[in-house]
Amino acid sequence: MNPDQASVRQQAVLQELGVDVWVRRHPEGEDVSAEVAVRASHVPTDIDAGDWSALNQTIRACTACELHRSRTQAVCGVGNENADWLVIGEAPGADEDRQGEPFVGRAGQLLNEMLRAAGRPREHVYIANILKCRPPDNRDPKPEEVECCMPFLQRQIALLQPKLILVVGRIAAQNLLQTDTPIGKMRGRIYSYGDTDIPVVVTYHPAYLLRSPGQKRKAWEDLQLAMGVTGEQG
Ligand code: URA
Repeated sequence: MNPDQASVRQQAVLQELGVDVWVRRHPEGEDVSAEVAVRASHVPTDIDAGDWSALNQTIRACTACELHRSRTQAVCGVGNENADWLVIGEAPGADEDRQGEPFVGRAGQLLNEMLRAAGRPREHVYIANILKCRPPDNRDPKPEEVECCMPFLQRQIALLQPKLILVVGRIAAQNLLQTDTPIGKMRGRIYSYGDTDIPVVVTYHPAYLLRSPGQKRKAWEDLQLAMGVTGEQG
C-alpha cells in the first residue's frame, strides 16, 4: 500500500467512526499552511477492490480534500472501460464540474478532434483527470489535493490496464511522472508509468493549443508517437 492509498484508507476508517479530523501533512516546523481539512464522514471503502461502478461511487462520495466543498460534483472518468488508450488531463473546469464529465468544454472539443485524427475517437478511449474535483477559479492543483486524489487514478489505471497513456499538459504530466521537467522537454520520448511497462506519451494540453495554435504541429507529432506505440501508422 502506498502512502496515498494509506491516507484515503485512513479516511475511510474514520468515516466508519463518523470522525471529522484535521490532518497535519507536513512535519513540525515546516509551513503548515498546507494543512488539509479531512472530513471523513463521506469517504468510501477500499478502493483497491471492486469494479468501475464501485470506484465511481467512491469518487463521487469523496470528501478527502477541500475541493469537495466548492465542487458541483466530482468528475469520474468517461469512455470505453476496455479501451487501450487512457487520456489523462489535469482537473475538471467549470463545464466539466457542471456536466460531470471530463473534457466537455472548448478544450474537450479540440481533444476530440485530436483523438479522431489519431484514429481513436473519444468513445474508443478512456478519459480521466489527475484531480476529480474542480479547483476554484481553475487554479493549479495543490500537492495535497493531488495526494488525496491519486489513488483514484491509480485504480482507474489498474482496472483499465491501458496499452498507452496519453498525458495532456504540464500539470498532468509532471504529477503522473513525478518530475519537474518542463513539458517542452518531456515530449518526444516514451516513458513508462510507475513501475509498470505501460508506455506514457506526453503532449500539450488542448487548452494551451487553443491559445497557441502554432504548437499543434508538435502535438500531432506526439500523437503519431503514441499511435506508433499501439501499432497504428504514425
Ligand atoms: N482540462 C482538463 O485538464 N481536464 C478536463 O476535464 C477539462 C479541462
